Amino acid sequence: MTTSQHFSTQAVHAGDHVSVPAGHPVSPSIYPAVTYTYDHMDDLSAALHENVGYSYSRYSSPTIAMLEQAVATLEGTEDAVAYASGMGALHGAFAQAGITPDRPVVAARNVYGATYALVNKLYATSGALRFVEITDRDAVKAAIDKYHPRAVVLETISNPLLKIPDIPAITQWSHAAGAIVIVDNTFATPYLYRPIDHGVDVVVHSATKYLSGHGDVLAGVVATTATRAHELRMQQRSFGANLGPFEAWLTLRGIRTLGLRMREQCANAMKVAEWLQAQPAIARVIYPGLPDHPDHDLARQFFRADHFGGMVSFELRDAAEPEVFRFMEKLKLIQAATSLGDVYSLLLYPAQSSHHALGREERLRQGIGDGLVRLSVGIEDAQDIIADLAQALR
Ligand SMILES: Cc1ncc(COP(=O)(O)O)c(C=O)c1O
Repeated sequence: MTTSQHFSTQAVHAGDHVSVPAGHPVSPSIYPAVTYTYDHMDDLSAALHENVGYSYSRYSSPTIAMLEQAVATLEGTEDAVAYASGMGALHGAFAQAGITPDRPVVAARNVYGATYALVNKLYATSGALRFVEITDRDAVKAAIDKYHPRAVVLETISNPLLKIPDIPAITQWSHAAGAIVIVDNTFATPYLYRPIDHGVDVVVHSATKYLSGHGDVLAGVVATTATRAHELRMQQRSFGANLGPFEAWLTLRGIRTLGLRMREQCANAMKVAEWLQAQPAIARVIYPGLPDHPDHDLARQFFRADHFGGMVSFELRDAAEPEVFRFMEKLKLIQAATSLGDVYSLLLYPAQSSHHALGREERLRQGIGDGLVRLSVGIEDAQDIIADLAQALR
């Protein structure tokens, strides 16, 4: 820049050439630049066409690459690709799987409501979709053998009944039939369970939840092999749904405390679940850490020792919507809001929100009763969470 330039030119370019300090910044930097310039045009061509360096932020971007590398490291995969939301990540993973009516997708019936809606939209009319009760081993094996799927889709811990499928067995059957396995690991996080260690091909996260952990960012990630990640990036060039750099930075910052938060949330959830079990106003408590949970042994076998997640579901005795609504309105510390995995405790009513679209009949068929609520236990002191539940129940 020279002083002979006019005001508007100066305003656009002033400060451009301050050099980056020689020291390394100790926290990640946010790179908002959408496009990159090079001294030699050959380098720009290499960046555009050979993925050597950055060219345009829908193709790749440094802050996002840092997040992708962090998730790949935690999940134990070769690479990862970030998306603007968990649903964006799931859409990317499904689109890349090559699902056709001949080679359909077999999906867990009780996947997250929007995932259920997405596979229905993408595959139901062409007949490329089969739902299965994912904790019924015989039914899963029979569906894989019968339909010869291209992909099997499931969640590590289902929502809101917190069922735990036998992922190693399902993966073995799927691979024998030539199918890939796509696991949504949002509820467990790699702190509890790394699907890749059990042969899973594609791991998906709504990073909006535990990975970021503070309720202030919408993000998604697919962690997988280098080859698949490359294909996902090429696909993302036309699909878009890219994560922004500030959201990537927030997610990365959240990940720094994932271990601390999960440890606290699992310990709190166990205390809350045990307390709820002793309350006459509670008809049923669902928590994988309780010995009466149907998948307790699988949780013990698969998850980090003595960790069972931060989600607790419970059924208010003799309650339907009006009673559940009054209970939710009485909560003071726990917030009635439709997300999970945050440092704050959040309570959700599946019949009203996550599973509303199923309709009552299908919802009840799936075992999600009118009095069932789902608590995402935060990192507040467990005694205060319990005191809040106690006063609301009173
Ligand atoms: C298990 C699971 N997967 C995916 C999603 C979708 O994530 P997002 O809201 O980030 O699109 C959610 C959201 O609640 C979820 O609970």
